[in-house]
Amino acid sequence: MTNDTRSGLTRRAVLETGVATGFFLVTGLPASGQSQPTPIEAAPTHVETVPLTLRINAQTFDVNVDPRTTLLDTFRNSLGLTGSKKGCDHGQCGACTVLVNGRRINSCLTLAIMHEGDEITTIEGLAEEGELHPMQAAFIARDGFQCGYCTPGQICSAVGMLQEAAAGWPSHVSGDVAAETVGLTDVEIRERMSGNICRCAAYDNIVAAIRDVSEEA
Ligand code: FES
Ligand code: FES
Repeated sequence: MTNDTRSGLTRRAVLETGVATGFFLVTGLPASGQSQPTPIEAAPTHVETVPLTLRINAQTFDVNVDPRTTLLDTFRNSLGLTGSKKGCDHGQCGACTVLVNGRRINSCLTLAIMHEGDEITTIEGLAEEGELHPMQAAFIARDGFQCGYCTPGQICSAVGMLQEAAAGWPSHVSGDVAAETVGLTDVEIRERMSGNICRCAAYDNIVAAIRDVSEEA
């Protein structure tokens, strides 16, 4: 047997390390003579919750939540408001979009405890007295969904987006960023809705629905 003097390791030492690693991978146990791993502290089983009052769809909800709970999980898991969907849980798809004080946000990216005192609107709160919101009606009329999973977020986002355009907020494609109002061309609509992904690619009909509502406003 030869020694590998360049690395300072003998061939035997390398082989013994390999055997010990293989033993561990197969059995989960350290080979005899190997040092024991430091025990990992067990995760706490008891989680402290905090009381929270949320205003959602003009109703008051009292709820106890783990302070690390997102607004989306609070809707869905604690309040039975399952209209807002969880697509990616990473702020990338827009399925969880809701309105907070009139502005659209991704509810998967914010904690519930940050929203005491806010007026929150989910898809369940857009219809009034049995009448669909105009954006909901337009999505139906224009066939703006296929599986419908992205639709609650698309509709909430579209409602927020119309208010942003009416307030003169420019987008990346606006020609005049100082203009007081923004004309909602299809290019503007597509850009402003680009945070809402539809896997079924119902985009043409979604744009048509939003255009209808913007022209009626
Ligand atoms: S679930 Fe929130 S952005 Fe995808
Ligand atoms: S309608 Fe299916 S993901 Fe949009």
